[in-house]
Amino acid sequence: MSISLNRRSLLTGAAASGLAAPAVAAADFGPVGRPSWAADGPQGAAARKGLAFGAAVPSNLLNRSPDFRTILARDCGLLLGNNEMKMAVVLPEPGRTDFAPADSVVRFARAHGQHLRGHALVWHEALPAWVAPRLAGADARQAEDLLRRWIDTVAGRYRGMIESWDVVNEILAGYGPVRRPDGLRETPWLAALGPGYVDLAFHLAREADPRAALAWNEDSLEHDFDWVEARRSRALKRLEGMRARGVPIRRFGIQAHLVGDHPFDATKFRRFLRELGQLGLGIEITELDIDDKAFPADIAARDRAVADVVRRILDVALDEPALLNVVTWGLFDGDTWLNDHPDHRRRDGLRQRPLPLDEGMRPKPFRDALIAAFRAAPDHSAARARLRNTT
Ligand code: G3I
Repeated sequence: MSISLNRRSLLTGAAASGLAAPAVAAADFGPVGRPSWAADGPQGAAARKGLAFGAAVPSNLLNRSPDFRTILARDCGLLLGNNEMKMAVVLPEPGRTDFAPADSVVRFARAHGQHLRGHALVWHEALPAWVAPRLAGADARQAEDLLRRWIDTVAGRYRGMIESWDVVNEILAGYGPVRRPDGLRETPWLAALGPGYVDLAFHLAREADPRAALAWNEDSLEHDFDWVEARRSRALKRLEGMRARGVPIRRFGIQAHLVGDHPFDATKFRRFLRELGQLGLGIEITELDIDDKAFPADIAARDRAVADVVRRILDVALDEPALLNVVTWGLFDGDTWLNDHPDHRRRDGLRQRPLPLDEGMRPKPFRDALIAAFRAAPDHSAARARLRNTT
């Protein structure tokens, strides 16, 4: 079953669903404060080249740890909730919303003059238990209405405050041969709406927040494997089609969950970034962290190896004028998802050290590598300013 997207159905649908305008305005989230970052920190170095550096943050730590708030303000020019704007958190049951976690991230970022990213409107994970069965039993109109209500609910609330939204997240299938010619991942959204759900999500997000740059965020595009090249080709083919159809996509997010000992071909990665830029898209590294399970137990050696991986990818990425933001998936090692994931736990049982600061929130060579990479990068400030303001 697939839907033919047309403007009439979008407008009619929105009117029919009787969606209320968001009950809040930007002013309800406090004034926008002066940028708080330190000139000698990673954001200070990034900003001088037209870039922004930031991190995904857990609101519970943000709200209870003054030390965490201090390092976020010092090091970051951009924040996002790592879970706070996901459907499972915001809309746990039909009609019951919980914006408190996301609101706290938005308020902090505004108070500290930091950019905000939204993550993630349409994903196959972090779906509340009621959604997949609801989609499975819905016709295309009902499924479209559910998607519209969800996007209007969350993107409408933060309208005008989000620099870029991850409209769709991890929509490409597998990590090897794929079943569908279009390479799309088989998800409840695809089953209910057909492949047109991708374009639809962008049109709905554009209606919910016309000022946000809309992004497709994708994983596993960084290392040098044949199946990664195939993924890159499928992504570029879909992006070309989306641009040709007038889909309001303005950014592409490369998650960059890197694995320390996996191969990396700078020439191929540089070419991929260039092809994304040639499509007129801003590029964001959105979830950078380095799985260190292949590196030695010794902390000094491990931290150096992780920092080397960071430099290797950033020295390529920061050459690209279309690269706008570098975001790590957590700011300190105490906040990584990697220790909770069976594929990423170290065999020696030691905790991963994948992020710029250690578990005590002290700087590591990773943070030094960020600063050095930003300082060494060419200054593409003018091109980046133009792209950053393209919504
Ligand atoms: O908050 C509840 C807690 O109340 C409950 O007791 C507990 C029981 O399991 O679950 C807690 O929620 C967990 C949440 O993280 C907060 O810790 C969810 O179960 C867990 O699934 C969720 O995992 C997140 C995962 O995305 C799925 O949403 C990770 O923190 C988060 O780092 C991870 O991030 C993803 C990106 O969004 C997309 N790219 C990949 C990346 C890593 O998987």
